[in-house]
Amino acid sequence: MDEHLTVGRVAELAGVTVRTLHHYDEIGLLTPSARTAAGHRAYAPADVRRLREVLGYRRLGFGLRQIADLVDDPATDPVAHLCRLRGLLTDQRDRAAALVAAIDRELQARALGIATTPEEQLRVFGGRLYDTIGSAYPATRRTDSRIAARIWAALGDARTVLNVGAGTGSYEPGDRAVTAVEPSAVMRALRPADAAPCVAAAAGDLPFADGSFDAAMAVSTVHHWPDPVAGLREMRRVARRVVVFTYDADGTGWRERFWLTRDYLPEFAGLLVDWPPLGELTAAIGGRAEPVDVPWDCADGLFEAYWRRPEAYLDERVRRAVSVWTRVGPQAERRAVGMLREDLASGRWTQRNGDLLGRDTAELGLRLLVA
Ligand SMILES: C[S@@+](CC[C@H](N)C(=O)[O-])C[C@H]1O[C@@H](n2cnc3c(N)ncnc32)[C@H](O)[C@@H]1O
Repeated sequence: MDEHLTVGRVAELAGVTVRTLHHYDEIGLLTPSARTAAGHRAYAPADVRRLREVLGYRRLGFGLRQIADLVDDPATDPVAHLCRLRGLLTDQRDRAAALVAAIDRELQARALGIATTPEEQLRVFGGRLYDTIGSAYPATRRTDSRIAARIWAALGDARTVLNVGAGTGSYEPGDRAVTAVEPSAVMRALRPADAAPCVAAAAGDLPFADGSFDAAMAVSTVHHWPDPVAGLREMRRVARRVVVFTYDADGTGWRERFWLTRDYLPEFAGLLVDWPPLGELTAAIGGRAEPVDVPWDCADGLFEAYWRRPEAYLDERVRRAVSVWTRVGPQAERRAVGMLREDLASGRWTQRNGDLLGRDTAELGLRLLVA
C-alpha cells in the first residue's frame, strides 16, 4: 500500500487548506518529500508526523517561526513533542475551564444583584507574562559560557541546587543535582527532555522545607517577581548559599550606561519604577553584588546582549525573546526600532557609539549577587 498522501488528501484529513500547505512548503516549514506513482508531490509518514507537530503548536498560538525552531530541534523526538503538546493543551484546557467557572460565578452574582469588584473581574484573566511570550524564548536565549562560569563558580561546592524561575534551564549546572522551579506552563513545557525535574511554583512561596538545598540560584528572573525581596528571602530560607544574576537599576545611571535605553527606549524607566534598590536585594540574602560584564558576542540574547551588534535589535525574533519589548508596549517598540533603523542606515549610530566597536566587554549594570 502507498503510504504517501497527496497534498489534497492531507489537507482534507488535517482540516487545513491546500494553500496553507503550499505556504508551509514555500517557507521551508514542511516540504512533501515523496512522489506518488503518478509523479505528484506527496507527504511521506515523517512529513505527516512533522505536520501533526506543526498543527499542534499552531493550535496553541505559536508563530510559524517559533514552530520552525521547535520542530527542527534535534534534541526533541516525536514522543517528547507529543508529551510537550499534551502538557500545553491540558494547561490551556484547565485555564479555559477556570475562566468558564469564573464567568459563571459572575453571571450568578449579577443575577442576584451582587456587584463584583474591579480586582475580581481582572484576576480572572491574570495570566502570566511568560505563558504569552515564552514560546519565543528558545530562539535566541541560551547559555552564555562566560556568564555560566561566573554563576557556577559562585555556587561553590554545592551539590544540590535549586534553580528558581528556571525557564528552559539555560544556566543549570550539569554536574550537580538540580531541582527547578518555574511558574509558567509554557516555559516548563519548553525545557529539554533531559533537563532537571521542574516543580510548578513561584519564588514567593517555595514548596520546600528550610535548608533543603546546598544552594539556590535565580538567573534573569527576579525582575519578574511580584515581590523580589520576599522571593529572595524564600531562597535564603530553603538554601544555605544564594546566587542571583540580576540588574542594578539604582538611580539614573542605567540611562547613560546603554545607548539603547538612552537614545531609543526611554520607556525602560517605567519598568524600573517598583524595582527595589540593589542594596535591598543584597540585604534580603545577606550578600554582596559583583558586576558581570557583557561579552560583545554574548550567546544569551538578553536585553543588553547586542550592545556591539545593534542590527540585532531590528530582528523581531531577538525582541520577542526579551520581555522588555513586550512590556514597553507596541508603540514604544515601533518607534525605537524605527529610529534605530534610520540611525544605522544614516551612520548616526556609529558616529555616536563607534567607540564601542573596539571593545570586547561592556559594563551594563548586570550583577551577580552572592551570599
Ligand atoms: C527571562 S526568563 C529567565 C529564565 C531562566 N532563568 C534563564 O536564565 O534562561 C524569566 C523567568 O522567570 C519566571 N518567573 C516569572 N515570575 C516568577 C515568579 N514569581 N517566581 C519564579 N519565577 C518567575 C518566568 O516564567 C520566566 O521563565
